[in-house]
Amino acid sequence: MTLNSSFRLDGKHILVTGASSGIGLSICRAIIDAGGRVTGTARRQQQLSEMVRASGEGKASSIQADLADDTGIKKIASEVEEVDGVVYAAGVSKLTPLKFVKRQDLTEVMNINYFAMVLLLSQLLKNKKIKKNNDSSIVLISSVAQQIGTKSSLIYTGSKGAMSSAARVIANELAPQRIRVNTIEPGMVRTDMTAEMENILSTETIEKDRLKYPLGYGAPEDVANGAIFLLSDASRWMTGRSLTMDGGRYSLLD
Ligand SMILES: NC(=O)c1ccc[n+]([C@@H]2O[C@H](COP(=O)([O-])OP(=O)(O)OC[C@H]3O[C@@H](n4cnc5c(N)ncnc54)[C@H](OP(=O)(O)O)[C@@H]3O)[C@@H](O)[C@H]2O)c1
Repeated sequence: MTLNSSFRLDGKHILVTGASSGIGLSICRAIIDAGGRVTGTARRQQQLSEMVRASGEGKASSIQADLADDTGIKKIASEVEEVDGVVYAAGVSKLTPLKFVKRQDLTEVMNINYFAMVLLLSQLLKNKKIKKNNDSSIVLISSVAQQIGTKSSLIYTGSKGAMSSAARVIANELAPQRIRVNTIEPGMVRTDMTAEMENILSTETIEKDRLKYPLGYGAPEDVANGAIFLLSDASRWMTGRSLTMDGGRYSLLD
């Protein structure tokens, strides 16, 4: 095995949630570039169809589903063909100070960022859709937020903390089947999700924040590169761990 081939995904089929935009879409493109095949899922059919079209003949397919309910989760787990990997990139965010937190906001965010992740993986295993003893890999897109304590972010931060903790438990349960589970914990990456936040905050505040990143804000492709490493055999001795990708924001201090 040459060094380069272990970083490729030739012959591997990967299920990607959140495939309609941002980081998930970028991961779909990177999987195709690395020689793999993608089944992408999200709610927005038009964006999914465009991802499939742009991927080229036979490289990608899509399943339109809402992860907010069991019907959507069961649909994905029954329709998807056997996979060598799963990327859980679907996610939602909400910024609210503790004083104004409502049960409905907590439920909405936990439902997509945590419950649906657990239930989807559970259904995929029940339906025997994740290959065993074949160095399969599950990658959960968590957030560096779960390592720190940003004001007003507790709903989101809590959901990502739950995801990152669960990843270690799932990794332990699946290691005997040689199914690896790791998370990526990115810092600020400009996508539709952060555009919403940028609409609320002033340009000045955003610029001040950006300057705190020694390498600037990230691009979706930066996270996709990390995902390719974790999906590929190059990371075959890594499980239950996290890859922090934050342009040095929280480790390089003045
Ligand atoms: N951007 C950042 O700075 C950053 C940093 C750290 C972590 N992350 C994480 O990275 C992941 C991707 O976020 P992004 O920044 O790429 O944002 P994004 O462009 O808004 O992507 C979110 C994805 O989640 C899907 N999704 C949301 N609700 C869904 C539902 N009910 N059912 C099915 N799919 C649903 C969306 O698809 P549809 O709307 O088509 O359903 C979309 O594809 C998230 O987990 C986010 O927490 C992002």
